[in-house]
Amino acid sequence: MSPRNGQSILSALRRAYMMEFETVANYLACSIALDGIHAEPIKKALSADIAGELGHATQLGNRIKQLGGSPPGSLDLAFGQRALQVPSDTTDILAVIRGVIVAEEDAIAHYNRLIRMCDGTDYVTQDLCITLLADEESHLIEFQGFLKDLGGLVRESGRARSSPRGGARKTARAGRRRR
Ligand SMILES: [Fe+2]
Ligand SMILES: [Fe+2]
Repeated sequence: MSPRNGQSILSALRRAYMMEFETVANYLACSIALDGIHAEPIKKALSADIAGELGHATQLGNRIKQLGGSPPGSLDLAFGQRALQVPSDTTDILAVIRGVIVAEEDAIAHYNRLIRMCDGTDYVTQDLCITLLADEESHLIEFQGFLKDLGGLVRESGRARSSPRGGARKTARAGRRRR
């Protein structure tokens, strides 16, 4: 491994460590803060994932150490997970689900980048990142499922609230389009 490539792998690993840490902070906050009848399964899923994401940070930290670096302490953590914050309306479960999906997609993109960076130079880091990538992909699928489920419920309640005239107009428009 060239020293330059080694340095860029180390800094990408430190970035991954920070992302995992930030995910832990936001999953924990959202798992506590959410309210409402649809919140319970999401809160449970977030709580269950906290230990897993902390485990990812631990594995990344250990690999950083093996490569001669140190994982960042709190003053060196730079956070920026804007899509996943505690919503001001704590019953806005969809905002949290969408935020989790963005966070998981970001993690997947970062691990894919790391896997490519390690190709031909650092198979141990590459193997770790492939394992973490598989975990993030399964989190993503889980929350995409929640989005389908809850998105459907929200659409249903929107339809129930809309006036019969509005509904009739929409049906007529759809009918015209079909012809
Ligand atoms: Fe993770
Ligand atoms: Fe995840």
